[in-house]
Amino acid sequence: MTLDPVLSRIDSDLEAATDRLFDLLRIPSISTDPAYAADCDRAADWLVKDLQSIGVEVGKRPTPGHPMVLGHIDGGDADAPHLLFYGHYDVQPVDPLDLWDRDPFDPALEDTAGGTVIRARGSSDDKGQLMTFIEACRAWIAEHGRLPCKITFFFEGEEESGSPSLIPFLEEHKELMQADLALICDTGLFESRVPAIITQLRGLLGEELVLKGPDKDLHSGMYGGASINPIRVLTRILGNLHDDQGRIQVPGFYDGVPELSPELAKQWKALEFDHATFLGDVGLNTPAGEQDRSALEMIWSRPTAEINGIWGGYTGDGFKTVLPAEAHAKVSFRLVGHQDPHAIRENFRAWVQAQLPADVTVEFTGHGASKAGLMNTTHPAFEQSRAVLGAEWGHDAVFAGCGGSIPVAGHFKSILEMDTMLVGWAKDDDQIHSPNEKYDLESFRKGIRSWARVLDAVGS
Ligand code: BES
Ligand code: ZN
Repeated sequence: MTLDPVLSRIDSDLEAATDRLFDLLRIPSISTDPAYAADCDRAADWLVKDLQSIGVEVGKRPTPGHPMVLGHIDGGDADAPHLLFYGHYDVQPVDPLDLWDRDPFDPALEDTAGGTVIRARGSSDDKGQLMTFIEACRAWIAEHGRLPCKITFFFEGEEESGSPSLIPFLEEHKELMQADLALICDTGLFESRVPAIITQLRGLLGEELVLKGPDKDLHSGMYGGASINPIRVLTRILGNLHDDQGRIQVPGFYDGVPELSPELAKQWKALEFDHATFLGDVGLNTPAGEQDRSALEMIWSRPTAEINGIWGGYTGDGFKTVLPAEAHAKVSFRLVGHQDPHAIRENFRAWVQAQLPADVTVEFTGHGASKAGLMNTTHPAFEQSRAVLGAEWGHDAVFAGCGGSIPVAGHFKSILEMDTMLVGWAKDDDQIHSPNEKYDLESFRKGIRSWARVLDAVGS
């Protein structure tokens, strides 16, 4: 089975492939909002049907939340590896809707200064990416009647909302999900140009807190001065999260944070990451954060604490002199090395409690806790893939870190005892999770061709 006709077929079929992706993008599968539960279900059905159309034996598997899609197709010689491909069909909410230049669920091709893009929510994260893999399989099957490897397809519909059903599902279906290596397409190119195989991911811990003071909102002229203001307390506490050097002040936070090994420091330095362009692209120019660290270290191998949202009192139009009863915040921590999310959660809560003045109480809600992941790159697929990706992108592939979190990779290891190779074609300016999300048509086309090459290299 030769690769070249598969690549040619991918090119001649690109328009049809784009149409198929558009069909999936039209389904508003926002997992976090219960109003879209039926749409999540529809997206799962759509994937089942599409996989069936290329001969995959596949079904929709219910969970207490949104369904999983699990399918299998044979391929390759007896000794060809068995791969498990993972992607997520759910997307982030679209708000603020007024910042979109078009309906987020009415995909279109747009010509931009950077080339043609597919504009829609989920185009990059992760429907466009997961379809690159399916399209590569479709082309192989259409050209040669079969795939070069056995493949299990696994699609989740709750990734963007903390994957509540994932661990029980993996535990229950362990046998069905055995494979030699997992593949995940949910990451990006290094500096939007260079194919990157991700060797480490940060973990994530979410905490929501409500500080409560007076038993109702008060007039700030009548009570201000004599009564405690929970927003003032909250901002003071959150203001204490970092010191002047950017170090996080929660006790024990840095337990388990490793220093970068000299080998990795050398490897990352050789990537010659352009910090100025990276920040310049989002309207910034001065690196914030720990001043004695390189930019890649800050993004890939240092832990963070960020305030993701903060509200309370009166935030509507005009002005209201209120002394609020409550103050709210959402805080998240990106974790590295062996940092223990559960210990950090406890330490954070105790640290907040210890700073509360009289008459103020706090309630916490936890939002998911995943450890950082370090990939084992010894499976031959890593070198085989690295060798062929360069031909597609015109740059040798690199081993890189990723500042984002993809907890499923850790669960594949701990529950299925399977290593994961993460490769993806997203660009830094895809605006994932933001208004006007896009996926470059180039990412889509070269992404499909890349997977065709990887399947060829790994299967033979
Ligand atoms: N595709 C992203 C992960 C990602 C982010 C990769 C940035 C490359 C760069 C994924 O869908 C995601 O958004 N993950 C969440 C975590 C999840 C548990 C909500 C994240 O990283 O915030
Ligand atoms: Zn995402």
